[in-house]
Amino acid sequence: MSEHKVYKLDTVEVSDAWKKRAYIDNDKYLALYKESVEAPDTFWGREGQRLDWIKPYTRVKNSTFAYPDVSIKWFEDGTLNVSANCIDRHLAKRADQTAIIWEPDDPETPAQHITYRELHDNVCRLANVLKAQGVKRGDRVTIYLPMIPAAAYAMLACARIGAIHSIVFGGFSPDSLAGRVEDCKSAVIITSDEGRRGGRSVPLKANADAAAEKSGHVEKILVVRHTGGDIPWTEGRDIWLDEAMAEASPDCPPEEMNAEDPLFILYTSGSTGAPKGVVHCTGGYLVYASMTHQYVFDYHDDDVYWCTADVGWVTGHSYIVYGPLANGATTLMFEGVPNFPDPSRFWEVVDKHNVTIFYTAPTAIRALMGAGEDYVTKTSRKSLRLLGSVGEPINPEAWEWYYHVVGESRCPIVDTWWQTETGGVLITPLPGATKLKPGSATRPFFGVQPALVDSDGNMIEGPGQGNLVILDSWPGMMRTVYGDHKRFVDTYFSAYKGMYFTGDGCRRDEDDYYWITGRVDDVINVSGHRMGTAEVESALVAHPKVSEAAAVGFPHDIKGQGIYCYVTLMAGEHEMDGLKKELRDWVRNEIGPIAAPDHIQFAPGLPKTRSGKIMRRILRKIAEDEYGNLGDTSTLADPSVVSHLIENRQNRR
Ligand code: WTA
Repeated sequence: MSEHKVYKLDTVEVSDAWKKRAYIDNDKYLALYKESVEAPDTFWGREGQRLDWIKPYTRVKNSTFAYPDVSIKWFEDGTLNVSANCIDRHLAKRADQTAIIWEPDDPETPAQHITYRELHDNVCRLANVLKAQGVKRGDRVTIYLPMIPAAAYAMLACARIGAIHSIVFGGFSPDSLAGRVEDCKSAVIITSDEGRRGGRSVPLKANADAAAEKSGHVEKILVVRHTGGDIPWTEGRDIWLDEAMAEASPDCPPEEMNAEDPLFILYTSGSTGAPKGVVHCTGGYLVYASMTHQYVFDYHDDDVYWCTADVGWVTGHSYIVYGPLANGATTLMFEGVPNFPDPSRFWEVVDKHNVTIFYTAPTAIRALMGAGEDYVTKTSRKSLRLLGSVGEPINPEAWEWYYHVVGESRCPIVDTWWQTETGGVLITPLPGATKLKPGSATRPFFGVQPALVDSDGNMIEGPGQGNLVILDSWPGMMRTVYGDHKRFVDTYFSAYKGMYFTGDGCRRDEDDYYWITGRVDDVINVSGHRMGTAEVESALVAHPKVSEAAAVGFPHDIKGQGIYCYVTLMAGEHEMDGLKKELRDWVRNEIGPIAAPDHIQFAPGLPKTRSGKIMRRILRKIAEDEYGNLGDTSTLADPSVVSHLIENRQNRR
């Protein structure tokens, strides 16, 4: 890290200007929050009106968290179409307004401005292509695309015809893609010839081919021509999307969907097993995405809004595409990475497009902070008025750098806590209402009732620390795990009966502010990306030379957490450094580059209890280089294992 001043801010008060300009000031926040939890039907019945309904709802909230009968329904008798809400209804006023600004990876390539009229045209054409390929309402379509406008067209085209999209992040391997295609039985993949990130090509079409080969389901691959690179081609199965769209009709009436019909599936990692298909539905999700986008970012008509996430993650779904477009916003989509061609790129893009609201992840902030202030200060950034953070806890040092250096102490930071499962932001400051404390996500959004419980499930009142649960439903929350409702109920509602368990630890201070402390389950948060230790372990043991493996997280300066793996080899295999690289590449190929272990330690034995359970607590301590304080080791079956692990630890500081 480069040298920089540490300011040690306690709090940042809301400025008078912000109190005046924002939709929500503190009095309004308090009054509306009270109404939202005491009279949810009134509150959400009113908020639901922000959308255009085909058949208006008469019932607002109908949900129970009671184990095991968990059931969540919002606006259940209303009908609507998400793409009509994100596009058609804006055409009367905004046909020529830019809906999407596309900024390519290479700054020399011209940016694109796609108007709402053009968005409508492209989405209808793509929807008609899908129909022509036999995609019907309720069918699953897998999207495996880079950050190009076609990704938004594909999402909205699915929504238009009532198909359920499942986006798979372009950084995932063919195996990961195949697993997700297989789980939701999707017959169609939409991909591109290649992706481009930081000047390098990603072979998306070749990966899609490999996935299609693995999974028997794929009948059609629709290919966006993006880089023009050479790709393999299977006649009869593969279709150039631009050619098909050029021939398709630009008119496609939106399908009338029930509020509770699924809109999309998004796979995410948990503490056990394969990634789960998180299901989000049409009505409640869009109401919540739209409302949070408007109030959290205080979006007004003259804003240019930029969220740097990838559409492969939930942040891209809710806050690049659905929330902003439902609000008729101008949303920027960036194909590249923060440090290409150099660490000024973010701020150059801000200046080039006059971005007013900028939303990114702490890992990016820490990496740019490490590159030094000059890359920031040589740009203007005068258009910026609000900054956002998401994906992991932001350490106060990074917060202050973001606030003072990037935002020149004039832009509030909204530190937004939420999850794939929650659909939208749950705990966050509102810029006109909330005094900020660096490192705290502050207070709950409307309708959200957070609470802390100890490990026995006892409620913690007042200031304290515990496991973060949510006591009642909000419109944007997931409805089920695709194809496995029992897994949904067991994963989120069985630890603390009657409550949604987030998997996060949290502290609440004397002002009732929430401070997320990170995952308390076996999920590692690598650069804001969720990785289940079980997934990394099962990839490792799939290697012919590995007999057993345990993965844990450890604190990492830039990534937040890194991945540390303990590997026991098959008898007769030798512990060579070359094998470490081979195993790292193996995991990279099995899951994707984000899962590549930072450290691999060969371990002839793992610390286990007498009943054979791996004692991860000990493995975590050694990975953190905190082996002096291992806690109670009396239940170990073989205590000598531990001293060997300590002697050979990889992360010495
Ligand atoms: C973590 C991303 C602290 C948390 C939207 C959560 C955060 C997980 C924050 C969800 C934040 C996200 N402060 N921690 N502002 N935002 N997290 O599903 O551990 O990719 O449970 O959703 O990221 O990650 P996911």
